Amino acid sequence: KTPIIIDTDPGIDDAAAIGLAFYRDELDVKLITTVSGNVDIHNITTNALKLVTFFDKDIPVSKGMETPLLKPALGNKVHGETGMDGYDFPEPTRTILKEHAVEAMRGLLEESDEKITLVPIGPLTNIAAMLLMYPHLKNKIEQIVLMGGSLSGGNVNGAAEFNLWADPHAAKMVFESGVDIVMIGLDVTLKARIGEEALSKCQNKSAEMFDAIFRHYIDGDMEQGVVMHDSCAIAYVTNPELFTVEPRRVKVITEGPAAGMTMELFGEEGTTINVAVAIDSEAFQQWFLGTLNKMI
Ligand code: BDR
Ligand code: CA
Repeated sequence: KTPIIIDTDPGIDDAAAIGLAFYRDELDVKLITTVSGNVDIHNITTNALKLVTFFDKDIPVSKGMETPLLKPALGNKVHGETGMDGYDFPEPTRTILKEHAVEAMRGLLEESDEKITLVPIGPLTNIAAMLLMYPHLKNKIEQIVLMGGSLSGGNVNGAAEFNLWADPHAAKMVFESGVDIVMIGLDVTLKARIGEEALSKCQNKSAEMFDAIFRHYIDGDMEQGVVMHDSCAIAYVTNPELFTVEPRRVKVITEGPAAGMTMELFGEEGTTINVAVAIDSEAFQQWFLGTLNKMI
């Protein structure tokens, strides 16, 4: 099994990604860390606890950074007031770890005999802080498979994708860290959609919950399908063949109107990272529904 840490800001598509990850036999989810992003850190952390409670998984949850490194936390309206509106989740019976997310990640990486894959599906604040504080742990990271960025225009504005826009300084630090990075950005995630017709093929509690929260998610619609950005990062870890990935030279813009843009450079500048440039949308949908069918 591939050991992973999911760093997240649930978030409706985060909720789907986390649920799917719990039911993939290839994965061993060691830890969930929360980060300020779609909504404030308190709602986000409560949402993460609601998810482990809903799926009845004993996976530790640790609270992370309350704000981006240099910017204020601005949020993302597409996920509703609480970040996970639409479903009446049972009150969480799990509690958060005492350690801050950065310390919880450090502990796991230090103690692990095998390398761990980090899967950040929110702003990169926790990951940047961890790499800055404990650079010696870079060699314990197998890969960072992140949802964020775009080589073909943004979703917050013409230039930037939300996770990169929310904390561009953290993103720059992570992209330039020297760790093996796979960027799963809007170039592929906008082509990964799940709507009511697909969901109606699954008859379980998870499909019912997904249907309820997806109806409150304004990224896409239930007829055309809502956009499963974050699930793409999980799908890449279990089934990289669903994607075409190419090395590209990228620079993260940190200031000005294009802050958060992942700009492709054709000269010597920039950092070479692996960028997902194409996805087999049909196969992704089968992956999603096949996993959902195995869930509670
Ligand atoms: C990203 O921003 C958030 O709204 C989603 O959860 C996803 O991680 C897409 O731009
Ligand atoms: Ca997210």
